[in-house]
Amino acid sequence: MERFFFISFFLHLFVIINVTFGFPLSTNSRWIVDDGNEGQRVKLTCINWPSHLETAVAEGLSKQPIDSISEKIVSMGFNCVRLTWPLYLATNESFSNIMTVRQSLLTFGLFEAVSGFQVHNPSILDLPLIKAFQEVVTCLEKHRVMVILDNHISQPGWCCNDNDGNGFFGDKHFNPDLWIKGLEKMASMFAISSNVVGMSLRNELRGPKQNIKDWYKYMSKGAEAVHAMNPNVLVIVSGLSYDTDLSFLRDKPFEVSFKRKLVFERHWYGFWGSWEGDTLSKICGRETENMMKMSGFLLEKGIPLFVSEFGVNQRGNNGNDNMFLSCFMALAADLDLDWALWVLAGSYYIRDTTIDSDESYGVLDWSWSSIRNITTLQKITTIQSPFQGPGLMETHQSKKIMFHPSSGICIVRDSLFQLKLGSCDESETWRLSSHQVLSVTKEEEESFCLKADEKDESVLLSKSDCSKWKLFSESKLQLSSITKNGGDSVCLDVDSESNKIVTRRCKCLEGNTSCDPTSQWFKLVTSTKSRLTKPKPFLEISPYSNTSLQKSLSV
Ligand SMILES: *[C@@H]1O[C@H](CO)[C@@H](O)[C@H](O)[C@H]1NC(C)=O
Ligand SMILES: *[C@@H]1O[C@H](CO)[C@@H](O)[C@H](O)[C@H]1NC(C)=O
Ligand SMILES: *[C@@H]1O[C@H](CO)[C@@H](O)[C@H](O)[C@H]1NC(C)=O
Ligand SMILES: *[C@@H]1O[C@H](CO)[C@@H](O)[C@H](O)[C@H]1NC(C)=O
Repeated sequence: MERFFFISFFLHLFVIINVTFGFPLSTNSRWIVDDGNEGQRVKLTCINWPSHLETAVAEGLSKQPIDSISEKIVSMGFNCVRLTWPLYLATNESFSNIMTVRQSLLTFGLFEAVSGFQVHNPSILDLPLIKAFQEVVTCLEKHRVMVILDNHISQPGWCCNDNDGNGFFGDKHFNPDLWIKGLEKMASMFAISSNVVGMSLRNELRGPKQNIKDWYKYMSKGAEAVHAMNPNVLVIVSGLSYDTDLSFLRDKPFEVSFKRKLVFERHWYGFWGSWEGDTLSKICGRETENMMKMSGFLLEKGIPLFVSEFGVNQRGNNGNDNMFLSCFMALAADLDLDWALWVLAGSYYIRDTTIDSDESYGVLDWSWSSIRNITTLQKITTIQSPFQGPGLMETHQSKKIMFHPSSGICIVRDSLFQLKLGSCDESETWRLSSHQVLSVTKEEEESFCLKADEKDESVLLSKSDCSKWKLFSESKLQLSSITKNGGDSVCLDVDSESNKIVTRRCKCLEGNTSCDPTSQWFKLVTSTKSRLTKPKPFLEISPYSNTSLQKSLSV
């Protein structure tokens, strides 16, 4: 299993690295698309890179050269960075333009960080804070990584809680007029950066002051202000209650003067919901329904939604997070979401009062030199490329692939009559008919149906001896049948040794809340990619070509 993952992971990266984008981006129904004539889909698969903590310096630069961090981002398959910034970086001149990185670090007694900077990024150490921030954007541009600038907080520092004074318009540190000024400043400053494709207005609105009326009032002002300064960028608008709630948009649309540049965002973490006290299937079913009700419904209305934060403890020992991830993956693949993983940082210069604080959610390790947990990262590899959307229609009709959310890969043909887990790029066309026949078709060939032959044995492909299959459990992610030999009630499962698809006793039916059914979770996902074709580069235009640069300057 390990070896297979490893190989497929790097094959996949090879594909991603060759992708180039046509900027600026805009929207077409629920999709984000490039600026080509056809407007081909660009799927945002971002990583969050914090630059909003106490020092207001992009994290990690005392550990590794900025260039090598950017390289790592690309090699891990991300095409974009959500780069966070504190408002004061844009509104307080004596902070942003005068204070240098060195001074900011020394304010907190971070002598080791200064020494690290001297080794890894000496040219940035004595730049004013805002110039250092620009250096990060420029370096990412050099590596063709898109950037979304996210106003994360006002005062530099770890975010967020209800009463930190940064939560909602009118809070102690959240003056709406100052906020608009800051957005304008950043929007105009980065209008010449061709890789800055989006600006997210404000992270996680929250707290006792939050209300819908002020949300409409100030978010539309903020959106117009950004668009006026830089009409090229996507304007990204977050919801209430820590960016989990956009449900009020059902009743009243968000009106702005411009078109095809508006995207909504939401956050989703396992530690927010309760993943205990009920069966996992029930919880996943409930959380998914809640996500759809609070924000996912926008996609169904043809409005783009970007899951700009989700993440898990990369050590893989947090049961809650692992369950969340399997549930998230099923929905993320099904909806083919645009997303940003939390977080790149393996450690922070200082977080709250802890110096050199380790980040267990970081995809990089403490020293920012290698991947913290390659198994966890591999799970999201499949959702780093798009399944569908404008310009990605390669097959005559959309097809379904069979996705296994807890491993992040798909069911593929093993031999003529058997199945195993493998790369989703090699997936055949699946169908669950109204007569409960589950079938697999290779292009242009006749189809085979799935036969549950015997319990604890491989599931077989057959031309006519078909079993009946039912999606069941509250998550609708388990597929059950009755074996032909013995009449046992079974579910599709994966043998963890051989990776083969087998039938086993259906897990967790007795309501045991500490039972983990995820090896038996499968999701039929729509894909229009044809089998074995690699995703095509989105556009052959380099973001540095004179034409695209002129375009971004002249509008
Ligand atoms: C601006 O930044 C300076 C330097 O960090 C700080 O002393 C001052 O209090 C800040 N002003 C405001 C209004 O936050
Ligand atoms: C990585 O995560 C997996 C679970 O996804 C866990 O089993 C493994 O122990 C983790 N490895 C490391 C090195 O933390
Ligand atoms: C519940 O499931 C766990 C893990 O599979 C198992 O160890 C435990 O014995 C089960 N409890 C009951 C009451 O079946
Ligand atoms: C841009 O145009 C200038 C002058 O026309 C030319 O010298 C330069 O090589 C061009 N750059 C690129 C990246 O095409």
